[in-house]
Amino acid sequence: MAVTEIRPLAIEDSGILADLHRENREFLRPWDPPRSEEFFSHSGQRAAVESALRERDAGRRWPGVVLQSGVIVGQVNLNNILLGPLRSCFLGYWISGRCNGRGIATAAVSQALDVAFRELDLHRVDAFAREDNPASCRVLEKSGFRTVGISRGHIHIDGRWRDDIYFQKLAPWDDGVRLTAC
Ligand SMILES: CC(C)(COP(=O)(O)OP(=O)(O)OC[C@H]1O[C@@H](n2cnc3c(N)ncnc32)[C@H](O)[C@@H]1OP(=O)(O)O)[C@@H](O)C(=O)NCCC(=O)NCCS
Repeated sequence: MAVTEIRPLAIEDSGILADLHRENREFLRPWDPPRSEEFFSHSGQRAAVESALRERDAGRRWPGVVLQSGVIVGQVNLNNILLGPLRSCFLGYWISGRCNGRGIATAAVSQALDVAFRELDLHRVDAFAREDNPASCRVLEKSGFRTVGISRGHIHIDGRWRDDIYFQKLAPWDDGVRLTAC
C-alpha cells in the first residue's frame, strides 16, 4: 500500500523540486504567484530551497516535502510562524497533478498539523483557499478546519487580486486558557 509521509525540506531536494515544478507549471499557474524562468531551473530551485531553509533557521517557517512511497510528489509549508501571544502560522501545500485524487494532500496536511501543534507547539493554523478551488477547500474541511469568512483581495495571483476563503484550526489541546500545550 502506498504510504504518504512528510519530512523537513533539505537542500538535496532542489533538483527533484525543479523537475516537479517544470512538470506542474501549467497545473500550478492559477494558484501560484508569477514565477521567473529561473525558478524552474535547478539553480533557481536551489536558491528557493536555500531561502526557505534560512527562514526555517530564523524560526519563521517550517518547509516540508510530501513523499508518496518515498518519492517527492509535492510540498507542504507552515509559513509566517508567529510566537508570543499569537502562536500561529499559515499552511500552504501542493501535490503534483498526476498524483491528485488519492488522499495525499489530506494525509500530508494531517501530518503538518501534528508538526504545528505538537512539535512547534503552536495554537492556531490558518489556511486560505479560493472558492474556485473546491479540491483545496475539501482538503481543509476533511482536515477539520472551520471557515472564518471571506478575505477580500487577499492575494495577487494570475494577474489580479483574488478573494480567498479564510479557514482556521485550533490546537487539539486548546482549552481557551493555556498558552502552550505544556
Ligand atoms: C488541492 C490539492 C492540494 C489537492 O490534492 P489531492 O492530493 O488531490 O487532495 P486529496 O486527494 O487529499 O483530497 C481532494 C478532495 O477534493 C475533492 N475534489 C477534487 N476535485 C473536486 C472538485 N472539482 N469539486 C469538488 N471536490 C473535489 C476530492 O474528491 C477529494 O475529496 P474526497 O476525499 O471527499 O473525495 C491539489 O489539487 C493541488 O496541489 N492543487 C494546486 C495547488 C493548490 O491548489 N494548492 C492549495 C492552495 S490553497
